[in-house]
Amino acid sequence: LERTFSIIKPDATARNLTGAINAMIEAAGLRIVAQKRVKMTREQAETFYAVHKERPFFGELVDFMISGPVVVQVLEGEGAIAKYREVMGATNPENAAEGTIRKAHAQSVGENSVHGSDAPETAAVEIAQFFAGNEIVG
Ligand code: GTP
Ligand code: MG
Repeated sequence: LERTFSIIKPDATARNLTGAINAMIEAAGLRIVAQKRVKMTREQAETFYAVHKERPFFGELVDFMISGPVVVQVLEGEGAIAKYREVMGATNPENAAEGTIRKAHAQSVGENSVHGSDAPETAAVEIAQFFAGNEIVG
């Protein structure tokens, strides 16, 4: 079974949406095999989003990700990476399909409620940034 890394972002934890988002994840057939609520440090957020560091929105993105608690998760299932991207919906909620997390809950392209890994290599790196092997219980 494949694993992907998920973050419930500060805009969603601020509105008490962890349970609502988890219900959508589980309804899609993904299993939450690790989960913790953390306040990311600036350094953690910069490392996590290093691929975007030349983008004009990088500073705003990092400030947002450390503006409140997040819930980091490992999700497991068949084709978990693609399946979770589908459940999340498009990055910009204006383009997100009906029934997706971002359509239901995201507030803007920046404050878009969730993150999900985009490939097996990034999933492995992202999971290892936040979880030790023995914290993941499949
Ligand atoms: P993630 O799962 O969070 O990686 O989202 P994504 O893969 O759908 O989008 P992408 O990797 O292209 O961008 C990463 C994150 O940067 C997005 O989820 C947004 O939070 C943020 N982002 C992208 N574009 C913009 C933008 O134009 N303005 C701002 N403020 N943030 C943006
Ligand atoms: Mg991305």
